[in-house]
Amino acid sequence: MNHKRTIRCGDLRKEHVGKTVTVCGWVDTKREMGALVFIDLRDVAGKVQLAFDVEKRPELHALAKAQHHEYVVAATGTVRARESRNVNARISTGEIEIDVTELEHLNSAKTPAIEVRDDLKCDPELRLKHRFIDLRRKPMQRMLQARASVIRSMRKTLDGEQFTEIETPILYKRTPEGARDFIVPSRAYPGQFYALPQSPQLFKQLCMVAGMDRYYQIARCFRDEDKRADRQPEFTQLDVEMSFVGKEDVIAMMERVVPGYVRALQQDATFKDCDWPVLKCGDIQTPIERMTYETAMRDYSIDRPDLRSRDLRLTELTEWSKTCSFNAFKTAATGGGLVKGLRCPGMADKFSRGQIGNLERDAKGMGAAGLASLKVAADGKIDAAIAKFFPEAEQKALIAAFKAQPGDMIFICAHAKEKVVHAVMHNLRTLVGHQLGLLDPNKFGLTWIVDFPLFEYKEEEEKLYATHHPFTLPADVATVAKMADAVRGWRSNMIAQVEKLKKHDPEETAIASRSSPRLPQVLSVIGILKQAGFTLEQVLGLRNNQYDLVLNGTEIAGGSIRMHRTDWQENLFELVGITKEEAEKKFGFLMNALAHGAPPHGGIAMGIERNLMCYMGLDNIQDVMAFPKSATGRDLMIDTPNEVEPKLLKELGIEIKPVA
Ligand code: AMO
Repeated sequence: MNHKRTIRCGDLRKEHVGKTVTVCGWVDTKREMGALVFIDLRDVAGKVQLAFDVEKRPELHALAKAQHHEYVVAATGTVRARESRNVNARISTGEIEIDVTELEHLNSAKTPAIEVRDDLKCDPELRLKHRFIDLRRKPMQRMLQARASVIRSMRKTLDGEQFTEIETPILYKRTPEGARDFIVPSRAYPGQFYALPQSPQLFKQLCMVAGMDRYYQIARCFRDEDKRADRQPEFTQLDVEMSFVGKEDVIAMMERVVPGYVRALQQDATFKDCDWPVLKCGDIQTPIERMTYETAMRDYSIDRPDLRSRDLRLTELTEWSKTCSFNAFKTAATGGGLVKGLRCPGMADKFSRGQIGNLERDAKGMGAAGLASLKVAADGKIDAAIAKFFPEAEQKALIAAFKAQPGDMIFICAHAKEKVVHAVMHNLRTLVGHQLGLLDPNKFGLTWIVDFPLFEYKEEEEKLYATHHPFTLPADVATVAKMADAVRGWRSNMIAQVEKLKKHDPEETAIASRSSPRLPQVLSVIGILKQAGFTLEQVLGLRNNQYDLVLNGTEIAGGSIRMHRTDWQENLFELVGITKEEAEKKFGFLMNALAHGAPPHGGIAMGIERNLMCYMGLDNIQDVMAFPKSATGRDLMIDTPNEVEPKLLKELGIEIKPVA
């Protein structure tokens, strides 16, 4: 390359008129107009028009004519003002052009498979396959710059608060964080595997035990989970951990980080032409609103409510349904289930039969037997096929429960499983929110969700799971200790009985396998707790020290205060059925570290892509990543995952068999 760039194409303005400049970039468009050739040259900062006049420089004119779309050139020339009729107000360099005196052809280009235009509409997979071309488009380049700006701002805030950025390993170990792990075979230890980190959770806790006090990392995380528009198998978190803090300290720290990067985006001139909602929302107001998990579930049936439709609250009818005349509601309510409804104000005529049918079909797909739909007629009475099941007094009570008005539409779902009703109602709220135009992409509803349950109970497995992760500090450590003691007590009693029976009857193998009828029945943790006098409500009523940050119905961050004592950690493991041996094998390093003077600590992780997606008003997380995986988890550009050479597999001791 003979020419040295002096300025970027998109940075040229009227004040440069008369200056000699050199620009480099890609040929965006070329227009041949007889004696004149115009090239719009594009670089990361924007486009500028290059002008070539056959009369002035015939050889340059010919060279310009030989350039095509996406060719790479360097051009030197004088900046001149365009005649007023030629000014292009749509681009920031539209008042000037370069009268080119030297042109260097730097590279040719094949015709790209996708067009390099801002408003490109094409198959998303095609964009992923030709990502290096897709990323030449301005919206994609601005997105990458915004991402960098957000990360820069996060670093600035945390560096200013005595945090240390620390990198933790990518070759990690399987940990229980909800999703499946990606695993990596070890050549040095055939048959053994690393796991890629779902998050640096345990390492950041170890940094606290190591006395680093305040850690952060822009951390790569890997989760092999079902695909969704706001999920990627490989994503990035701002991961933070702090010592000697409580919930309020972590929340306050994040309330400096979030307004910081929103302001950084708003103040960055690079983005002045972008139409992202974040640029118009003003400052993020702090303190950010807080809502308990219980309120979120009661009013919105989801622990990440979209507060843009906050007035569309759900009404619970379970108590009322227990004595109502409609069997479907009554059976669900008396069977320990849930009955909930949504009043859609003034929408009685807004749902076609087909739409109601679709909603019913959705509800059935989620496990419900159906979805009751009731219109409130002009006379204030219920106008619905199921009205006949409700005597007049009950109809009045229903209307009163919803504070319904003539012209309203009401949907009700009842099911023995709360989960089913919540799923149906959340889906319905989202749809109605859209229909009522409440989900304005230019508005931001931010809230902390706090006071989460400590445990989630999977009835089918009769098993308790930690709601966040099993390292989260319970709100009531003493009760958890009592419960864990009850479980341990039951177990040691069982072991004692086995030993006693074995002594008397060494021949009976059923005793050793604990299946002898002479032994008490083997109970689940919940079974043992019930026997010890704890009710399921009591167990599920326990709360933890978790906090999630939710933006427009998307969880953008989550964290908690952790267990810093081994006895507390062991108690929790006991209740979620992680045995001592399993804990030792999987988290021996953590338990050992906690036993070496771990400070009280807590932290949080924020999904960088989820944040950007929400703040930029995009629907798909792929659009805020340079090289995302496709909806089916493939990298379409480099074409992976793919087979590896048999020799490599042999070295690893791996044999490929069809998946059962
Ligand atoms: P959690 O699992 O809640 O917490 O994750 C934190 C945040 O990471 C983002 N996120 C994702 N983004 C894109 N694709 C995914 N598949 C994905 N999964 C999660 C979300 C989420 O809020 N170790 C804990 C944090 C802690 O306790 O400090 C953790 O990872 O924005």
